Amino acid sequence: MINRFYMKQRIHFLVIFLTLTQVTFSQVRTVKELDVNWKFQKISQKNAFEVNFDDSKWETVMVPHDWAIYGPFDKEIDKQDVAIVQNGEEVASEKTGRTGALPHIGTAWYRNNFTLPQYDKDKKVILLFEGAMSEPQIYLNGKKVGEWAYGYSYFYFDVSEFIKEGENTLAVQLTNKEFASRWYPGAGLYRKVSVIVKNKESIDQWGTFITTPFINEDEAQVNIKTKASGEHMELVTTIFDAKGNEIVSKRANEQFGKEFEQNLKVHNPNLWSPENPYLYTAVSQLFVANELKDELSTRFGIRAIKYEANKGFSLNGEIKKFKGVCLHHDLGPLGAAVNKAALRRQLTILKDMGCNAIRSSHNMPSFEQLELCDEMGFLFLAESFDEWAIPKVENGYNRFFEDYAEKDIVNLVQATRNHPSIVMWSSGNEVPDQWGEEGVKRAKRLQDIFHREDPTRPVTVGMDQVKATLESGFGALLDIPGLNYRVHLYEEAFNKFPQGFILGSETASTVSSRGIYKFPVEKISMKQYDDFQSSSYDLEYCSWSNVPDDDFVLQDDKPWVIGEFVWTGFDYLGEPTPYDNSWPSRSSYFGISDLAGLPKDRYYLYRSRWNTKDETLHILPHWNWEGREGEITPVFVYTNYDSAELFVNGKSMGIQKKNMSTPQNRFRLMWMDIKYEPGTLKVVAFDKAGKSVAEKEIKTAGKAYQIVLSPDKKILKADGKDLSYVEVSVADRNGTLCPTATNQLKFKVKGAGKYRAACNGDATSLEMFHLPIMKLFSGKLVVLVQATNESGNIELSVTGKGLKSGTLKLNSID
Ligand code: GAL
Repeated sequence: MINRFYMKQRIHFLVIFLTLTQVTFSQVRTVKELDVNWKFQKISQKNAFEVNFDDSKWETVMVPHDWAIYGPFDKEIDKQDVAIVQNGEEVASEKTGRTGALPHIGTAWYRNNFTLPQYDKDKKVILLFEGAMSEPQIYLNGKKVGEWAYGYSYFYFDVSEFIKEGENTLAVQLTNKEFASRWYPGAGLYRKVSVIVKNKESIDQWGTFITTPFINEDEAQVNIKTKASGEHMELVTTIFDAKGNEIVSKRANEQFGKEFEQNLKVHNPNLWSPENPYLYTAVSQLFVANELKDELSTRFGIRAIKYEANKGFSLNGEIKKFKGVCLHHDLGPLGAAVNKAALRRQLTILKDMGCNAIRSSHNMPSFEQLELCDEMGFLFLAESFDEWAIPKVENGYNRFFEDYAEKDIVNLVQATRNHPSIVMWSSGNEVPDQWGEEGVKRAKRLQDIFHREDPTRPVTVGMDQVKATLESGFGALLDIPGLNYRVHLYEEAFNKFPQGFILGSETASTVSSRGIYKFPVEKISMKQYDDFQSSSYDLEYCSWSNVPDDDFVLQDDKPWVIGEFVWTGFDYLGEPTPYDNSWPSRSSYFGISDLAGLPKDRYYLYRSRWNTKDETLHILPHWNWEGREGEITPVFVYTNYDSAELFVNGKSMGIQKKNMSTPQNRFRLMWMDIKYEPGTLKVVAFDKAGKSVAEKEIKTAGKAYQIVLSPDKKILKADGKDLSYVEVSVADRNGTLCPTATNQLKFKVKGAGKYRAACNGDATSLEMFHLPIMKLFSGKLVVLVQATNESGNIELSVTGKGLKSGTLKLNSID
């Protein structure tokens, strides 16, 4: 027993931990990530797939890579002269920054020469792409291996007949058309590419499906279906707990078709939830005549989900509301190139806000994001499409829908279904097919494909044409009716739809710019200002949307509303509503945090409701209003406390208490008639009994004097990919941050790291992220320092004219 246990442990850890060199070995399976030494050129050249093609002058890049993020921004790129029908527009107008104004259009080639360790001609070789933007054409050793269409899909090819011993040449052609997207899609091999070498007798790609159909306090049934190719095979599946202890092991020797089915019992299961993201690992070993032929590790969680009329969603028997955000796939200054450290930072910021759910709007999430959601505890709504057969944009997914929709869904589900975080699928977002009979048929057909591939999770569609879907039957057939905005239709939809609950699949779309405040303070739709910014009093929204408080009312008062996914957690590139027609606006204003990941005021409004463990006491606006002396400057406080007293330079401005008079009064404390005078704003919060329990103050800052640096982490992993996000601000002599500073700063990184990018969250800035110079926006920006492959000390220095410079020491370790 001990020996067997030790063996299993050893194999298990080999599989999991030998990833440092980007090659994962077990005795029987090799996964080689193709990350370095890619040659890249934005070029339309027919013969670039040939083995002897001379690419020596091409740029050398690492993959994941986004060719467009290096700019420059240009108003003419993908300029769309359209009426955005979903936004209620009837007349076409020029939309400049709609897809980010970055040079993503055109054809480009990537080439990579690689050799495979442990290869011989009896092996089976799989080439896996986790996303390629877009319309990839794949060639290996001069021959076409295959192609795909949708840039967000994961796909693979069995390339056994194309591969050879020694050097192989992989060439990928990608093409992005104009008018193909409603946001910045990114460009290139923006997710991982890998080659998997295994035996002919082996577990099929994405052939494992783990579910937990029965759970009580004492035990859980873990059902594992494993598809494998070969003859006379036996499968041994062993479950390990999070510490690597063996829990249970079972052997199976019967296959039905290609599938083994096993049920393993786990005693006293440790259930997965956002609060307790506990993960088990199943190690599947495939034998022929006692010889190990394949081995695969799959992480999973034990958890039960249910959606019930009038009760809503429950996880492990407990009712839970989705406190969720929608996220686009771009990572601001990194573009679409996936980076785990960047994703971890996003999720850390959202966790602190009390967020418990993510919607990957409007396409397939990265594997990295799902892994992190499993580990950090987030519920996940995995979406597939923004378009079906009827176009939203001329060259959108409508071109591929008929040929690819089923294949894309199959790949989405098969590749990701073992993630416990995923609790719902979405087959579409605001598809114009909501109108008419054909659309109803399509909705049914797509939902059936999801059900066939995964009978354990329900399917939703984010609907904006609620009236139409009430009539056509479109909404009634969905497992989960998802409403995008339209708070005034929730009640009617609940009454008429048969499901007995409603999901706020997309909510709010409030717009704001971090640290920017406009006067007079008013609740207003589609407001535009000369500086192309939106006010951070969080009262500005779109013609189709609303402010956060309107959703809070529904979430709190209607038990049948199962939660919300706010549009959006972070700003993203493209879609600069309400400035769709105004250059140089080129990124969104919807984010709860800005494009740099810096929280806007709204962050604290959500935090005051969603984070039920920690205190929130946040004052806005900033208190540097030279020239506004004596003018009305309302003060808002976002807090989990019920009431508070405000003091301006020691003078009480009275107590405000949350009340039911308006949605705003219910969720915010507001002093509307404060007259600005420089000095100190102080707020004292009271508990329910009226006892003062917390206080906070902000001060008018003096002249900018010194640069202040504050990293999200000081120790990096020397893997060439890890990032430290360093928040850069300026402060006066006393250390008070200057909230309106716009100083231009320069960045230098020395030692075992390099300067990667900077971002200030200004949706109108045309400064390039990868150049080591940028202006502060509302007193702040973020610098991304990237680890190299060498361990050692890293030093970031930031300088600015007339400012005391800032230096920060970081460390990178193996
Ligand atoms: C929704 C749409 C999103 C985004 C949002 C902006 O209608 O689903 O993709 O465009 O509006 O408010």
